[in-house]
Amino acid sequence: MSTAPTPTHFAAASDTDLTTEDGVIVVFLDGEGALGPAASTLDAACGGALGRALAAPDFKAKPGVVGRFDYPTGLIARKLVLASLGDKPDRATARKTGAAIAGQIAKSDAVIVADGPGDAQITAEMVWATTLKLYEFKEYKSPPKEEDSPKTTSITVVSEAPEALAAASADFAALAEGVFFTRDLVNEPANRLTTDEFAARLAAMQELGLEVEILGEPELAEMGARALLGVGQGSDNESKLVVMKWMGGGDGDAPLALVGKGVIFDTGGISLKPAGGMEDMTMDMGGAGVVSGVMRTLALRRAKLNVVGVVGLVENMPDARAQRPGDIVKSMKGTTIEIINTDAEGRLVLADALWYAQQTFKPSAVIDLATLTGAIIVALSKTRAGYFCNNDDFAAELEAACKATGDQAWRMPLGKEFHDQIKSRLADIKNTGGRDGGACTAAAFLEVFIEEDMPWIHLDIAGATMAKGGNELSPKGATGWGVAALDALIKTREG
Ligand code: BES
Ligand code: MN
Ligand code: ZN
Repeated sequence: MSTAPTPTHFAAASDTDLTTEDGVIVVFLDGEGALGPAASTLDAACGGALGRALAAPDFKAKPGVVGRFDYPTGLIARKLVLASLGDKPDRATARKTGAAIAGQIAKSDAVIVADGPGDAQITAEMVWATTLKLYEFKEYKSPPKEEDSPKTTSITVVSEAPEALAAASADFAALAEGVFFTRDLVNEPANRLTTDEFAARLAAMQELGLEVEILGEPELAEMGARALLGVGQGSDNESKLVVMKWMGGGDGDAPLALVGKGVIFDTGGISLKPAGGMEDMTMDMGGAGVVSGVMRTLALRRAKLNVVGVVGLVENMPDARAQRPGDIVKSMKGTTIEIINTDAEGRLVLADALWYAQQTFKPSAVIDLATLTGAIIVALSKTRAGYFCNNDDFAAELEAACKATGDQAWRMPLGKEFHDQIKSRLADIKNTGGRDGGACTAAAFLEVFIEEDMPWIHLDIAGATMAKGGNELSPKGATGWGVAALDALIKTREG
């Protein structure tokens, strides 16, 4: 039901006889580009094949996989892989090398001998990247015969200091679990991941020590969350707001609030989307997916900070009861909204989810994530998320977290001109601002529901949530973009 990262074990170099290993063995060059200790030992065992490869005129010791030797003579291993981390590996190099290793060890047990350059942190991040790249969502594939479909069943990392490496790897393991949780949610189709099922998966995280509260339609109606409820009123799936709390910080410390758009399927509603590509709208709960994955990571690594995650789960369907263009709804805040286009639904869900989070938890800062606009893809393509922020210090925090983890984001503008575009003739505001600056007018809409002086970041992840052809750390499909960056931002706040 959920995809688990490949189990990873740590073993001492002195306890490991590489000549009797039967899976794939990965060994490293040293910082000077010569064979590392394990590579030298195995080179001798297999008659100098590695050394000859190094001496070839076209050999380059750049970071990544630099050699592969199938069924090497003198060893039991089915493949010997030579990898390099360059001379002084940084985090990006560690991830790049880890991902390249994944391509070589898929479908087999693997032993990675971590005796190249780089400390325990670098090695742990490299192995994390390997794990991330090995993700596969197999839920709806009929089980093939075991022998037809071998997969990586375990990774053993061999090191001189296995305890230190295991310690450095613990938080990365929690992060891998969070990323996998997010990817599974995003990859699930909407007939399976209903709002009920989504809420149930979040409720199950109470086992990890999270407090989880589920508000259904009666509670939301009572609170006046008409903007959110309007989006879901054409669906048979009940609209919900789910709150996840991780209170690992000081008693009474204001929490950081993470708020996510969880549209389990976006048909556009009465402003129906065209058929071509509509199936991709199963990912329109990507923001809620990231919030959920981060909360899971925080619980697994027992983070020392108070964080609340709030996700609005709805389905946007056309129906006799569905919201119409021209309808006017009153949000929980009291702001009235004219619906121009029922396909601009994410901002309606977030309006109430953001307001609820601020009123209920009095957070120190708010970050929302949403697959909000096609316009952000037009602006930035799909490798970077777009972010909007009303506080330069907070923006710098996000920039640092993105830089450290490789989750890329680009700052976009807030401004009065975008508010002018969403003025309504009949209500306080309207839910679209025309074609110009579509991602910016969506952000301006959300800004209406942010309290004065509240540090706030809005992340539009419409492009970054899925990678049709895969990316550095993920196979085709859901990427889990943002789980690592937000976890890093939170870690920095833990001190
Ligand atoms: N969920 C979509 C945005 C989206 C587009 C996400 C492509 C992922 C990939 C959102 O609800 C939407 O439909 N936005 C409209 C807004 C418009 C009607 C103002 C859009 O971007 O076209
Ligand atoms: Mn839409
Ligand atoms: Zn949407």
